[in-house]
Amino acid sequence: MTRIAIVEGDGIGHEVIPVAQKALAVLHPEYEFFPVGVGYGRWEQTGCPCADRDIAELKTADAVLFGAVTTPPMKDYQSVVLRIRKALDLYANLRPVKGEGFDIMIVRENTEGLYSGIEETGPDRATTLRVVTRTGTWRIVRAAIRLAQQRQGKLTIGHKANVLKSDVFFRDICIAEAEKAGVSYSDKFIDALSLDVLQHPQAYDVIVTTNIFGDILSDVASYLIGGLGLVPSANIGDRYALFEPVHGSALDIAGKNIANPIAALRSAAMLLDHLGDTKGAVRLESAIGQVLASGIRTRDLGGSAGTREFGDAVIRALGQRA
Ligand code: NAD
Ligand code: IPM
Ligand code: MN
Repeated sequence: MTRIAIVEGDGIGHEVIPVAQKALAVLHPEYEFFPVGVGYGRWEQTGCPCADRDIAELKTADAVLFGAVTTPPMKDYQSVVLRIRKALDLYANLRPVKGEGFDIMIVRENTEGLYSGIEETGPDRATTLRVVTRTGTWRIVRAAIRLAQQRQGKLTIGHKANVLKSDVFFRDICIAEAEKAGVSYSDKFIDALSLDVLQHPQAYDVIVTTNIFGDILSDVASYLIGGLGLVPSANIGDRYALFEPVHGSALDIAGKNIANPIAALRSAAMLLDHLGDTKGAVRLESAIGQVLASGIRTRDLGGSAGTREFGDAVIRALGQRA
């Protein structure tokens, strides 16, 4: 029995995740789905956004489908998604950006770097410790190399080694591993890389980078394909896996049935792929493509279809191809 944990989270998570869950249920009527109600909404109701038992429950699933959670900029609030990534040791955050003539896979280190959680706020100074470890770097670059070998065989290392010693460390480990594996590689400063990805997306295959740089680069690169409504992600560890759109809870558009569910649907496709159903993943991706080609689009892409209507069209397209 395949069990999928469903975390809608907050904001548009409540709208896009039901669409993605429905697509999974059509492709796999035998899947069992169970909700896990973590997020800011839970915090408002109970004062606790995510309990230890929620983490334990997530660990019982074969995979997690996750919407987005609101992270208010409050002093002592811990982001639920960051807690889950750390607790499940989901060290590889894979963010594909694929369009006409280019196919980029951003491999973001997901457990350390500037997200170490080692922070201090004093009256006149606040610090965050940027931690880059040998083990953390080794495992993320190995994941990136494995992907590059299955794809076009090209690795780009994004860093800021001109300024940060921690990135000299990161870059050198990445280069050593790429040479050992015989993968063709280059490296670029992350600021220049961010522009070059937009100007020459066809030049890139797999990009490996540290946590915060991967966070920013993936939002930037979403511009290539029409924005945040379209980019999915996989958070993968050695034992657990969680799939979520790159976008957040988008409170500015929440509750209006206008959010684009494609990022959530594509995240569901990545989930299928991870569970070994490559065919189902391709079917779902092509159903999305078919609906877009028919001119049905949500507002962010210049159309007028609602979240649910777009989702229904994808379900119909899946049915036609069955
Ligand atoms: P956001 O990604 O939620 O939204 C940025 C902009 O993109 C907004 O204008 C929004 O309307 C638009 N957008 C996002 N998704 C869309 C979609 N599917 N369809 C159409 N338009 C879409 O980022 P934000 O506004 O900076 O953050 C809002 C909240 O979400 C914050 O609390 C933030 O911390 C949180 N967040 C959570 C996650 C996560 O849970 N993984 C990721 C990013 C942000
Ligand atoms: C993302 C988000 C998260 C991150 C936030 C909400 C903690 O921006 O998944 O891209 O910074 O990783
Ligand atoms: Mn982000």
